[in-house]
Amino acid sequence: MKGIIFNLLEDAVTAEHGAEAWPDLVDAAGVGGIYTSLGSYPDGEVLALVETAAAVLGQTPADVLRWFGRRAIPLLAIRFPQLFTGYPHARSFVSSVNTIIHPEVRKLYSGAGCPHFHFNDRDDGALAIAYHSPRKLCMLAEGLILGATDHFGESVAIDHLACMADGHPLCRLTARWPA
Ligand code: HEM
Repeated sequence: MKGIIFNLLEDAVTAEHGAEAWPDLVDAAGVGGIYTSLGSYPDGEVLALVETAAAVLGQTPADVLRWFGRRAIPLLAIRFPQLFTGYPHARSFVSSVNTIIHPEVRKLYSGAGCPHFHFNDRDDGALAIAYHSPRKLCMLAEGLILGATDHFGESVAIDHLACMADGHPLCRLTARWPA
């Protein structure tokens, strides 16, 4: 996992829980704790940070990942404003993740292992999203979709219809933004 993800997690944790929260979390999780944005670090370190934060807060790791994704979007919008321009709404932004956003991310962060999504506009107006990644970070994706929706001043209902965490080969979600 690229260091930028750890940097964003540090910024989100510090903003919500104060300056001591990040060093305390790093200590409790037993991870390295020094992350440069372009560096690559074991996926297990993100999971250890998320699981430790969840235990401290009395939440599930899924809750923490969703929270992190949501808080990451405003931080990403400050770091990469160019990636947010030209979209009329959250749906078009999210739908461009394979074709524009993550390809740009791969140029900026060599070796980034960005996931691939399948998008399908359903007849009922929902956006069907299929997610597959060996990292199984579907709840991070949910949080990023929520954060993107906040960014555009909209609301969204997300249903997680099938999940890799329950043994399904991939995650299936729907996102419904009011017309
Ligand atoms: C400006 C917006 C975005 C930026 C800059 C960005 C950047 C990144 C970066 C740097 C990674 C880490 C890759 C690695 O360390 O190997 C990543 C992973 C990921 N991104 Fe994005 N991303 C953006 C938007 C989104 C959106 C909208 C979604 C959801 C639809 C999304 C879903 C994910 C997920 C789930 C991962 C975790 C890796 C995995 O699942 O295997 N990203 N992204």
